[in-house]
Amino acid sequence: MMEGPSVLPLLFLISLLTHTTKQAHLSVSSKTSQLFADAFVTLSCEEDDSSAGWTLRRNTSTETRAECGNGFGKLTGSSCDISYIDPLESGVYWCESREGAISNMVNLTVSGGSVILQCPVLPVMEGDDVTLLCQTKTTPSNLTAAFYKDGIFIGKAATGHMTIQHVSRSDEGLYKCDISGHGESPSSWITVTERHTTTPPPTSTSPPGFNLILVLLVIIGSVTAVILLVLLVLLLRCVCRKPEVRIRLQTYRQFKITNIFV
Ligand SMILES: *[C@@H]1O[C@H](CO)[C@@H](O)[C@H](O)[C@H]1NC(C)=O
Ligand SMILES: *[C@@H]1O[C@H](CO)[C@@H](O)[C@H](O)[C@H]1NC(C)=O
Repeated sequence: MMEGPSVLPLLFLISLLTHTTKQAHLSVSSKTSQLFADAFVTLSCEEDDSSAGWTLRRNTSTETRAECGNGFGKLTGSSCDISYIDPLESGVYWCESREGAISNMVNLTVSGGSVILQCPVLPVMEGDDVTLLCQTKTTPSNLTAAFYKDGIFIGKAATGHMTIQHVSRSDEGLYKCDISGHGESPSSWITVTERHTTTPPPTSTSPPGFNLILVLLVIIGSVTAVILLVLLVLLLRCVCRKPEVRIRLQTYRQFKITNIFV
């Protein structure tokens, strides 16, 4: 019965430790997740441990787990260059180690048309302002544009720029824009990540491993709490049972006595 609460935190801890030793971050030369066809893009696996053998992979509508340098792109060190990107190269890109650990993922959408929506390539933080720009391939980007979220019209902007202030989780969704006379952009997913209120102010730098110690303390604390709770319940049961037994004995005696008199 005690195996449940003690094994689970241990597994969690092991996954946490393996995570902190083998980690990579995928960075992209493009600031936006939508690109015009024929653009040049560099994707890099920024790794903690190069011996883990990170490779850049992608899933598109036509390939799964394709590897950079072996099917698409040109591998230069830990970077992958894609020249003249094609609309068919739209998809999800990530770094993967030999053991199967994966980095953050990035969605790239390549437009074969003449309009794109410039939106952040990386998830945006809750509370930040996000500016979306609706851009045409040929004309200067200050045309009036209409913006849509999950297929619903959300506003028109005279200069093609729309700022969403203090984004929250409810702003997550699929965005696109439209410039009349030029066309519609592809749709892109905007992801909003939670801002952790417990993070210390930027002036006080916490030592490395601080978070790990915190997690350990929380695990030890919760396991102790569960054990104490179980002990308390067992103790209460023992204390409560005794009077119950006495009452039963008494009623038994009374029953016998009354029976004798009858
Ligand atoms: C890529 O495609 C494979 C096969 O469909 C799937 O198992 C995997 O989860 C996909 N990876 C991502 C990051 O979407
Ligand atoms: C990529 O796009 C899919 C939908 O097309 C979405 O579900 C997913 O969350 C996106 N991933 C990122 C990292 O934005």
